[in-house]
Amino acid sequence: MKITILTGSAHPKGTTNTLATAFAEGAQTAGHEVFRFNCATAKVRPCIGCNQCGCGQRECVFKDDFVSALVPRLLEADVVVLCAPTYYFALSPQLATVVSRWYSVNPQMTGGKRSLLIAACEGPAKDVMVGIEATYERILNWMHWQDAGRIIAGECPTAAALEDTDLVQRAHDLGFSMK
Ligand SMILES: Cc1cc2nc3c(=O)[nH]c(=O)nc-3n(C[C@H](O)[C@H](O)[C@H](O)COP(=O)(O)O)c2cc1C
Repeated sequence: MKITILTGSAHPKGTTNTLATAFAEGAQTAGHEVFRFNCATAKVRPCIGCNQCGCGQRECVFKDDFVSALVPRLLEADVVVLCAPTYYFALSPQLATVVSRWYSVNPQMTGGKRSLLIAACEGPAKDVMVGIEATYERILNWMHWQDAGRIIAGECPTAAALEDTDLVQRAHDLGFSMK
């Protein structure tokens, strides 16, 4: 399978990138092709709602890394992984910016894919992650995609906190078990 991972943290060795790496290594070990897109370093403008694309009928007005580097990988992906820290109870703006640009290829991406959520926060997940998980579920419903699993790292302000958990192993196992 082709798996596209969107990482939304500016911390290369942070919580979510550590979990993304574990997931990717598991998936690659199982023979899957993994493409990783760093939303924090890529040059991607947020959708401005100009509607020139007509929600995927025409090209986006922006010609940036989203179009040149990511769109082909999104369209061909069997699985799309959303990986982000929580910023103010929401997906990080680095990831949310990239997701906003899906608008320009929305019809082409609708249906036939599965998705996973890898998210981290400093507070307790049951309080903090309500919004992110609801957003994720609504995105999947809108895209007609299936949920293939979640790694929710509550009380993990930095990657060091992962050492007291089994989350890295779980992320690896989830990648390895993708079918
Ligand atoms: C701007 C900002 C906003 C944040 N908002 C929240 C929040 O609303 N709830 C929470 O529990 N943690 C919040 N955090 C903490 C991060 O979600 C947490 O440190 C996360 O594990 C960082 O992931 P990373 O290492 O992958 O970047 C925030 C951090 C920053 C920098």
